[in-house]
Amino acid sequence: MKMKPRGDDLAVIILAAGEGTRMKSDLPKVLMPLAGIPLLGHVLRAARRLEPSLVAVVVGHRAEAVEAATRSAAREIELKPPLRFVRQERPLGTGDAVARALGAVEGCSRALVLYGDVPLLKPETLHGLVVTQGEEKAALVLLTGYRPDPRGYGRVVRDAKGALRRIVEESEATAAERAIREINAGVYCFELAPVREIFRKKFKAKGKGEIFLTDVIEALRARRRRVLAVEAADSAEIMGVDSRLGLARAEAALNARRLEALMLSGVSVADPASTFVDPGVTVGRETRLEPSTILRGATRVGERCVVGPFSALESVEIEDDCWIVSSRLSSSRVLKGSRIGPFSHVRPGSVIGPEASVGNFTEVKASRLARGVKANHLSYLGDADVGAGTNVGAGVITCNFDGKKKHKTVIEERAFLGSNVNLVAPVRVGAGALVGAGSTVTKDVPPGALAIARGRQRNIARRHAGADNEVDHART
Ligand code: UD1
Repeated sequence: MKMKPRGDDLAVIILAAGEGTRMKSDLPKVLMPLAGIPLLGHVLRAARRLEPSLVAVVVGHRAEAVEAATRSAAREIELKPPLRFVRQERPLGTGDAVARALGAVEGCSRALVLYGDVPLLKPETLHGLVVTQGEEKAALVLLTGYRPDPRGYGRVVRDAKGALRRIVEESEATAAERAIREINAGVYCFELAPVREIFRKKFKAKGKGEIFLTDVIEALRARRRRVLAVEAADSAEIMGVDSRLGLARAEAALNARRLEALMLSGVSVADPASTFVDPGVTVGRETRLEPSTILRGATRVGERCVVGPFSALESVEIEDDCWIVSSRLSSSRVLKGSRIGPFSHVRPGSVIGPEASVGNFTEVKASRLARGVKANHLSYLGDADVGAGTNVGAGVITCNFDGKKKHKTVIEERAFLGSNVNLVAPVRVGAGALVGAGSTVTKDVPPGALAIARGRQRNIARRHAGADNEVDHART
């Protein structure tokens, strides 16, 4: 959906100067990661969709760190409008923060104010607010929501006809006002000219010496300007994050949102409560995510796959028709029709398949297993290139590390490696070769050859064994 509001002079102002002591972290609150992205990064993403003329971020607590992280988040999403930072040395309130940002948004006619710690707002909601402000010719529109427990929020005071009169902060509210459940989300779209005008006069500081942005509402009404309050369609969106509890709730809300989108697109999710999917993940139709499945980073899963139960994938590409059960995979590719697990570990740099299978307690690292390779039991394949159709017997180990360096093992197509074979790298097993069980291979095996590298079995009679046994041994 194209979201650029008409008249391209919208500024986004993000307030991010607060300390966030309740997070009890060395990181500034707005940099706490949510689904792998700093809180402020989520806000930037939503803002970007509105195609504003510029984005101003008010920073204070740990300003340098917040600026650096914001710049890198902006680069990551290729934010086009200029990014400006405004310093607020002391947190003197939301009104003071916005007043300081007014100089940075010179040339814009209206502003959308967002908080750096309110990460779940949907671009559609913000777009709706901006459009309403324009269409209703309101000087200011703010977003509201209902909270069963509204403590800590500013309450929305409406008149008998339901029109917005003012926002009253908890510290200033009467008992009746405190009982109001409709709260101010802290998201505003306003015309800059009248707000500049209002801030030219000094506002009275309240509470702990703070300037309240919410006082702008009454000041606009006193000038007979229109102010509106719009209720958010989904009150989960306006959730602010101020503690690790809030972070966990936001994480769950974001995850639920993504799972819902996946299910609507044709993916089955057996147990949404135990399934976690990062924002960059894509999953194809008719794929089934079984319980306790975690898809992280840039993971892509194709169509008609089964992933889980108990599987964790980190930046993995899975093609169509694959089956991944009870396994851990990272930074690798699994090609069409392959089967992984149960209990396999596929480490970075591996490519498996098509139609290959990696099974019970097998670890693969930086290896290529071509079409139809089977490595189904108890193996370690590291820095190996395994040709099509090769059978890797139970317990085959590539000895790829000599204590200093890693070495490569090449196993050509249609080879057969018996159980418990050690391949001491660098080494090559030729096409169609057969390596006897229990062999420790230190020299290349020519194509088609049979290699046996193990001690010969000798059966030796035991002196004190029973007479029957001695007779048996003598016969063998
Ligand atoms: C504010 C609103 C309240 C609303 C609530 C929603 C005012 C006076 N009150 O509450 O009506 O229900 O948000 O969450 O606006 N910040 C700065 N500099 C400051 C103070 C705050 O940048 O000097 C930033 C914070 O980092 C945070 C945001 O502004 O991102 C909100 O600050 P917070 O203290 O949580 O909001 P309140 O003022 O309590």
